[in-house]
Amino acid sequence: MASRNQAKPVSAPSSFDLGAFLDSCTTLVNRGLDRFLPKASCKPAVLHQSMRYSLFAGGKRMRPALCFAAAQACGGQMEEAVPLACAVECIHTYSLIHDDLPAMDNDDFRRGKPTNHKVFGEAMAILAGDALLAQAFEIATHARGWPRYSHKDITYELAKAAGSLQLVAGQAADLEAEGKRIAPAQLRYIHERKTSALLCCSVRLGGMSANCTPAQLAALTDFGYHVGLAFQVIDDILDVTQSSEKLGKTAGKDITAQKATYPSIVGLEKSRQIAQRLTQRAFAALKPFQGKAEALEALAEYLLKRDR
Ligand code: FPP
Ligand code: MG
Repeated sequence: MASRNQAKPVSAPSSFDLGAFLDSCTTLVNRGLDRFLPKASCKPAVLHQSMRYSLFAGGKRMRPALCFAAAQACGGQMEEAVPLACAVECIHTYSLIHDDLPAMDNDDFRRGKPTNHKVFGEAMAILAGDALLAQAFEIATHARGWPRYSHKDITYELAKAAGSLQLVAGQAADLEAEGKRIAPAQLRYIHERKTSALLCCSVRLGGMSANCTPAQLAALTDFGYHVGLAFQVIDDILDVTQSSEKLGKTAGKDITAQKATYPSIVGLEKSRQIAQRLTQRAFAALKPFQGKAEALEALAEYLLKRDR
């Protein structure tokens, strides 16, 4: 057992080829999104160009990868999870487009490119985000449906994660906390909702696409929750330690905007320890898979060590 301040290093099985896995996830999700989305020439063309601009701007596709990895851990096929992986990526992209708006975090760069509203204007960026949210639910109807998980379950899962108690709650609380000193528990509340909820939803949906057992779903939920929290702590660390070029978005914005973050509340070193401890908790959640969750393990390690 690691002491509170001395987190054990985390490492995944070295034989797993994460690079090849990520490439296949990206190919599958890009192909799926291109197939499910209206063509860029489809009327109103500017709206569909705007949606596609952000969707294909070079995101890391981490939520689809988590979804596919969870499907594999439960003995399923990645292809079965494609509509669900595409749906979460649409919700994620909508949330980034809206997050970047002047009324929210007001950013000019995302994924190494000018933000959606910088290219298409604020009104069209709002509409592209709205359309991507609806698109997610339409795409999810293309899922096959499984004996334990119907379309109703899938719709509930997506709606819950995206709604006013999770993703939108987190964003509202994040904005409200700007310029204020908040307690670590409130920061945890924000991170659970604005980030962890959608990552957790991604792994749960992956499990559902493999018709996972209730015990597997519980393990995936535990894993997704902790990986999701670690993801935001790392994101906050990167904001203060990396360059804008590396991140593809404006670095150092959290300090300028007086955002509540782990580095601002507990400092960088403690933040790193927290991220490591959360990742260990995620690893521990995978125990019931008895070594069959290699991709999830490798992803958890990669997300902890990522530099962008
Ligand atoms: C970066 O993901 C995104 C986060 C760390 C989550 C931040 C949360 C929000 C912006 C919530 C916004 C919510 C609303 C309702 C507007 P990433 O590093 O995976 O990005 P990538 O896909 O570009 O790689
Ligand atoms: Mg924000």
